[in-house]
Amino acid sequence: MRQPLVAGNWKMNGDNASTESLVNGIISGRDDVTNAEVLICPPYILIPRAASVLERRGAANIAIGAQDLDINANGAYTGQISASMLKDAGCSYVIIGHSERRSIYGESDADVAEKFKVAQAGGLIPVVCVGETLAEREANETESVVARQLDAVIDAAGVEALADSVIAYEPVWAIGTGMTATPEQAQDVHAFIRNRIAGLNADVAAGVRILYGGSMKPDNAESLIGMADIDGGLIGGASLDAESFLGICKAAN
Ligand code: PGA
Repeated sequence: MRQPLVAGNWKMNGDNASTESLVNGIISGRDDVTNAEVLICPPYILIPRAASVLERRGAANIAIGAQDLDINANGAYTGQISASMLKDAGCSYVIIGHSERRSIYGESDADVAEKFKVAQAGGLIPVVCVGETLAEREANETESVVARQLDAVIDAAGVEALADSVIAYEPVWAIGTGMTATPEQAQDVHAFIRNRIAGLNADVAAGVRILYGGSMKPDNAESLIGMADIDGGLIGGASLDAESFLGICKAAN
């Protein structure tokens, strides 16, 4: 049985004051969510503040993740953050290969695969994002794009490595647009991903959590997460408001 995971990707939003109130808000409803894991991914600089609120409130049942990491351990890499720094700051997860990193910062499939390995080697659970653009969907390339992105990780790290990871299917056309994939559209791709993994290792396929991301909201979360192969959500916009984030957590519950 896969435990649902609801992850908030705050992207480049917030400050110390909003982090304080958002984390306190999530804590206030967290205990009603007994069957789902809850994860927040603040910007790097707000991770310590989020961690200190969680510690102060004794809320060990909310995990912290980062939104990216560097592949190097330390040294002359101005502006970068390493896996060990994230670990030291209280992170247990890290998002890898978000479509914004791929499209805006030019991360390749090979970069994403390398980051995946570095994250795991550093004791972090990678949340690896895959998904097609609207043009790719319209050209009937959804499966080939997702397969290429997934295979890059499998080829580099081995299929067994997926057992200690989370996959997020995020159709690029649904991110931040208010256009959600229908539960059936999402389920089709989730099943495709799981079957592709099952072709290599059935146990890994059965255990790995595959999240949906792209304009998930409290009112569409239940129908999406209710699908057989959708094991939770990676939430952008709706994770910035405690009430709507908790609404999705409760739907997953
Ligand atoms: P959204 O973002 O929920 O705002 O569409 C999802 C994501 O990019 O992870």
